[in-house]
Parts: sequence; structure tokens; C-alpha cells
Amino acid sequence: MTDDIGREIRELLKERNAILLAHNYQLPEIQDVADLSGDSLDLSIRAAKTDADVIVFCGVHFMAETASIVSPEKTIIMPRLDAGCPMADMITAEALEAKLAALGDMPVVTYVNSTASVKAHSTICCTSANAIAVVNSLAEDEILMTPDRNLCQYAASKSTKKIHCWDGYCPIHDRLTVQEVMDAKAAHPEALFMAHPECRPEVLALADAALSTSGMIDFAANSDKESFIVGTEEGLLYPLQKKNPSKSFYKASEFMVCEDMKRTRLEDVLRAVTSMEYEVKVPEEIRVPASRAVERMLEITRK
Ligand code: 13P
Ligand code: SF4
Repeated sequence: MTDDIGREIRELLKERNAILLAHNYQLPEIQDVADLSGDSLDLSIRAAKTDADVIVFCGVHFMAETASIVSPEKTIIMPRLDAGCPMADMITAEALEAKLAALGDMPVVTYVNSTASVKAHSTICCTSANAIAVVNSLAEDEILMTPDRNLCQYAASKSTKKIHCWDGYCPIHDRLTVQEVMDAKAAHPEALFMAHPECRPEVLALADAALSTSGMIDFAANSDKESFIVGTEEGLLYPLQKKNPSKSFYKASEFMVCEDMKRTRLEDVLRAVTSMEYEVKVPEEIRVPASRAVERMLEITRK
């Protein structure tokens, strides 16, 4: 049944010259049928380089928007429009403007996990992998970082700049506790602990490495260690295990599940490639300034 749906999806994708992208947290059956899986920004950048006319994005809304920002000439389809990101929704462009009016003008560094309109009001974007490099690339000594307070505090701990943190957070990563990590370490004393920078500072203090989701996959593959405790959404266990079949991976907590990331089912993907719904298109007046912030970040990463 799953195989039949998968085959039908692949045929329709071919007919439409479409490419299917899946974030690392998507359900295994979605990752298996996708052309590419990876972290959010990496997917959009790789998709922009293909000659596909259509990108079907299995992830959450801001990721489809990012694909639209970097590939305006392509049609971006999201199988589940209700897959949002609670952290991205913890800030609006209006609230950001009000904050800047209160703080005084300063550069705004915005995590890619944000809406297109917040990106459009930002100086530069960052990812969990390049936040420190982006912060340190700015000439100014005082900056505002949005929307993730944990990523912000992590970057601030590695920089001499004065960084104001927006008070947003990922409910899934922010709930990982020191006790849960200590329990996992006690159960697997030989394992390295990899944590996502969206985790709290006291949890990151226990980590052997703070990494983005794709960073964790590379780290595990290149490490001479055999076992790892994984401090991120549980969906990452699947690609970690698939790419490192001889190694062992343990959840840092049983409770790190992002419901939004799990909304998309194979049936939704089949319906999406059949009906070409739902299209996500960032309007030009938002896309152009948002793309400037993304492009500035990419220039730093390229250096
Ligand atoms: P990355 O895959 O970019 O590390 O992001 C993690 C995340 O929480 C995405 O929702
Ligand atoms: Fe948003 Fe967190 Fe879910 Fe990622 S895991 S989509 S940051 S709520």
C-alpha cells in the first residue's frame, strides 16, 4: 500500500517536473519517497539549483516560504498548509518594528525559522549552523537576534557583542531538561551527547557538540565513537540510523516530538502532487527584502 502510493507520487512528480523535499524530522515514509532530505535552509538552496519547475516541500510553513524566497520562478507546493512552527509565530514584523523603536536602531539577525515578513524586516538571516559566524561578521557591537532566545544566548556566549534576545523559543527543544540528559547519560555513559542550539543554555552546557540537524548527521558519520544521545526532535533518529547503520542513537527525551512536523502523511503528498495544492508564494514586496537578508547570510557562509 505504502509502496503503491510512493510509486504513484514518484510518477506524478516526474510528469510535473517536480522535486520532493523532506525535512530531517519528517516521517520515515516521507523521507524515503523524497528526492532530497536535509535541514531547512540546505533543502531550499539545493532545490534552487535544480531545473525542476515545481518544489513539493514536506516540512513547515516557513520552509516553503524560504523555498519561494530563493526560487521565485518555481511553483512551491506544501501538502499540509496547517503545518506551522510555533516559534516562527512568536514574532511579527510589527512587533519587531516596535522593539527596534524602543531599543534604538541596530542590526537584526533573524534565524531562518521565521516568517518571510520578519525576514524582510531583518538585516541578515542565520541558521543554527552559522549563527556565530553571522553575528561576528557584523561591524556593529550591539545587535538584536530573533526569534529564538536559546540560539541567541548560545551565539552571545561565543561573541563579545552585546546581543538582545527576542523571547521566542521552540517548545520542543526548550522542554528538554538537564535531568533528562543526565538520565540518558547515566543509561549510556559511553555515548556522546549532541544537542541542537534551540535547547536551553543549561542543556547545551552538557553537550559534546551543539549542531544543526544535518550537522548531527555529519558529526555522527565522522566521529570514531559508536553511540550518541540525540538532543533534538525524534524524527532525526531515522536519517541518523539510516546513514550510520552500525552506530547507536538514543533519544535524550521521549517527549521531543513536533506535531507540526508529523502532520504530513503520504496521502497528503499524493493529493498535493495530484491537485498541485497548496501553493505558497511570497509576494514580491516581501520576497525582495527577505531575499536580501538570506543572500547576505549566504555570502558570509561562502567566504
Ligand atoms: P535545522 O534542521 O535547520 O537544524 O532546524 C531545526 C528545526 O527545529 C527545524 O524546525
Ligand atoms: Fe518549529 Fe521547533 Fe517544530 Fe522546528 S521543531 S518546526 S522550530 S516547533
